[in-house]
Amino acid sequence: MTLWSNGPKLGLSVTPSELYLDAAATTPPLQEVIDCINAVQRHAWGNPSSLHGTGLMAAERLARSRQAIAGLFSAQVDELIFTSGATESVHLALFGVAAGCPPGRLVISAVEHPAVEGAAAQLEQRGWTVDRWPVDATGLIRMELLDQLLAPPTTLVSLIWGQSEVGTVQPVPLVASACRERRIPFHTDATQLIPQGLLDWSVSSIDLLTFSSHKLQGPRGVGVLLHRPGLLAQPLLSGGGQEGGYRAGTEPVALIAGLALALKQLPTFNPEQSLPPGSTPQIRSMRDRLQSQLATIPSLTVINATEEQRLPHHLAFLIGDVTGHPLSGRRLVQQLSRLGLACSSGSACRSGQAQDSAVLTAMDVAPSWRQSLLRFSLGPWLTNDDLELVPRLLSQAIDACT
Ligand SMILES: Cc1ncc(COP(=O)(O)O)c(C=O)c1O
Repeated sequence: MTLWSNGPKLGLSVTPSELYLDAAATTPPLQEVIDCINAVQRHAWGNPSSLHGTGLMAAERLARSRQAIAGLFSAQVDELIFTSGATESVHLALFGVAAGCPPGRLVISAVEHPAVEGAAAQLEQRGWTVDRWPVDATGLIRMELLDQLLAPPTTLVSLIWGQSEVGTVQPVPLVASACRERRIPFHTDATQLIPQGLLDWSVSSIDLLTFSSHKLQGPRGVGVLLHRPGLLAQPLLSGGGQEGGYRAGTEPVALIAGLALALKQLPTFNPEQSLPPGSTPQIRSMRDRLQSQLATIPSLTVINATEEQRLPHHLAFLIGDVTGHPLSGRRLVQQLSRLGLACSSGSACRSGQAQDSAVLTAMDVAPSWRQSLLRFSLGPWLTNDDLELVPRLLSQAIDACT
């Protein structure tokens, strides 16, 4: 039995045996994306920097993809840098700006992805001060601290747009505008947000924006940094001078073509609104339906923020046994996998370690519950029918873990 409603369209060579509710970790590449990558790999496999016909074919394909992606964001082609993924884009953004000024204060939120935390830790070693913007119980930054945190000596701000573990959508347009008024470069990690909808970069106050192809049904191994020209003082990787000198290394033309195609499937939204209104309404309603079905399970506490401040495909909750004692999220994930359901107990990057979630700690969740998070994140490969089984599977997993 397959638990997927449209398994064959995913382009997987074997029928997946799990019902896949882990879009925030990664997404299945679309069949047309895989076909496109294969075709480009066959016909435009040359090095796009070579001067012969084979190279020119690859260069032409790369230029077309770059143009298409820039067009989807209403960006200029030279505002786009292809990287290996969001982790690299974050490092390029923060180190690239930091290289152009003396060590100052970097403000990040208390609920960043480890990629931003890792880059911030390295900047600390280079003499920067890192301040974390505190959040409330829903993971939302405390806006009353804006003036204080953006005051001198703040020289750089990075704020996650859609939080991967708990789904909180931060007021990025507001903070970006406040940074622009104060001439502070502003970066956002939009890795979880862009899969919900494209933004118009030309009217946005954001200076640097990171996202990753594998979160939006594109291929793994390619990411993007959108940047305002003149902000990055130094590349992360130097060498061959590709990507306008900002990122050396032969471009993965086929992956970039696949990314362009995956992006074309996404809806658009207005960046001045904190939530993408045009974003995948059917996924949001599927999520809401699942959430109400799960309400029958005792000791399940949804911890996502309010509707307007929450990723539309995201459902995060703390889970306990019938007596109200916290259960281990990692054990539940393993048990659910045995039952045929793939989900997560937090950030995929931390799933190997049994430790308190830094995000739940920042949200001031009681210490005994900080390892009891379960996250379901949905995608267009699912239907309501697929999700009918979820409450029963979760109840069985809870029984097995109690
Ligand atoms: C918010 C966020 N930032 C960054 C990353 C890292 O992305 P990548 O795997 O493309 O480096 C992830 C992936 O888990 C993420 O969810």
